[in-house]
Formats: sequence, C-alpha cells, structure tokens
Amino acid sequence: MTASSSFASQSSEHHMNIITVPTSTEAVEKAATIVADEIRSHAAPVLGLATGRTMESLYALLVARYRKGALDFSSMTSFNLDEYVGIAASAPQSYHTYMHEHLFDQVNMQAGHGHVPDGMAADLDAECAAYEDRIRASGGINLQLLGIGETGHIGFNEPPSAFDTRTRPVVLDPITRQQNAGMFGNNPDAVPERALTMGVGTILDAKRLLLLAVGGGKAAIIRKALLDPMTPDISASAIRLHKDCTIIMDDAAAAEWKRAA
Ligand code: F6R
Repeated sequence: MTASSSFASQSSEHHMNIITVPTSTEAVEKAATIVADEIRSHAAPVLGLATGRTMESLYALLVARYRKGALDFSSMTSFNLDEYVGIAASAPQSYHTYMHEHLFDQVNMQAGHGHVPDGMAADLDAECAAYEDRIRASGGINLQLLGIGETGHIGFNEPPSAFDTRTRPVVLDPITRQQNAGMFGNNPDAVPERALTMGVGTILDAKRLLLLAVGGGKAAIIRKALLDPMTPDISASAIRLHKDCTIIMDDAAAAEWKRAA
C-alpha cells in the first residue's frame, strides 16, 4: 500500500491531477503504470519522451515490464522532446544514444519509430519544421512525458519561452549546462551551448501530459511552477493550461508546494 495524496484543481476547464507519494521509487512506479496503461490503450500509441536522470528509472521499469511480457512496443511511435546541437547521434552524450540505451534497443520498438530531433542537421530551422510535421502526421502525441529542470524548463524551453513556441533551436541557460555537466566530464563549458527542443505550444498540443519530479532539488522550482503566476520565465508553469495534466512527485519534490498550497 502506498500512502498517496491526490489533488485536483478547482477549475472546470483545466484538470490538474497532482499525486504525491513518500518515495521516489513509488513515484516512478506510478508514472510507469500510467505510461504502460496509455501504451495498452491505443492500437498505435504515440508517446512524447524525455531524457535525463529522472526518466532513467522510469525506462528501466518499462523495460522490465516488456521482459515479463506485460508490455508491447511493436506499434508504438515516439517523439523525444529535445537534442543537443552539434553532438553526433552516435556520441555517448547525445539524447539519441540515451534513448537507444535506455529504451529503443531494449524493447520491441520498430526501427525508425523512435524520433529524436537531429541536432546535426545542416538547416536546424528546417529540421524543427520537419519534426513538427512528423508529429502532426503521426496523429499527435497521446501522452507527453515531462521532467522539470532547475530553470523551470520543460523540454529545453529556457526562460523566457512563450507558451505558443514551437520546435526550434534554443540557447541553453548556464544553469542547465551546469545541471547537465555530469555527462560532459563535470565541465559545464563542455555542454553544448544550443539545443533543439519542442516548443511549449508543441508540448501543450499533446492530448495528455505527465510530469515526474523527484528529490528535494526540485522542491523550489515545483512550488514556483505550480503556485506563482504563470510566466514564460518558468515554462513548466504552462502545464497548468492543459486540460489533462498529471503531476507525480515524491514527498521531497512536493515539500515546498505542500507547505505553500
Ligand atoms: C530532457 C528534458 C529536460 C529534463 C529536465 C530534468 O529531455 O527535456 O526538461 O526533463 O532537465 O532533468 P533531470 O531528470 O536530469 O533532473
């Protein structure tokens, strides 16, 4: 039995379901169950995927369910949120590599069905427009997975990112380059300066959003994203505009929000 508390926002147009559980393990398990149910409920599911530390344990649980025969990825298509500019797909730090290691090559996804923006494209704007076209041609994203960065970004939508932004090249915030330095020899200067990211508007177009946040390091930004006035300076605050948004947190990530709510 997990002690979980759930909070549904009062507004009739918007539905935000906030779930808190004591531990990060329980948070990731809950998220994995939601993702698995979503995959099972569509003949051809389209998922929006995220990378980063938070998602690693989520993908591990999905792979475990696949290995038990409980989950089938053969008809799934996916679109990742973002990719660094100037890092080869085959490089260990690329989000292409991350996705192949943690999910695509571990399950029965069809080759070519896992889309990640091409940060090596000669024409980055054309690549971003083509990525939007591919999402649209797939019928749209059923469920978009999100993490939250220290700058309050979703995807790489650094401050300020207007809520109607689409997939585009962006300059990474120094705080994000510091946050992600682990894969670059702990040297923030070695983290690429630019990335391609789905826009806030692209993310809001998904039929469902699922944001997962664990650990005390996320407590302050979660409070701001959920309780401060919505602002392009915290792109995660935009998820409050979505009709079907679930937020799963452990108690550590939820602590400041709980105290202030
Ligand atoms: C990654 C992404 C980012 C991360 C966020 C949290 O594809 O879009 O928004 O979700 O930076 O990263 P972690 O989980 O490493 O704290």
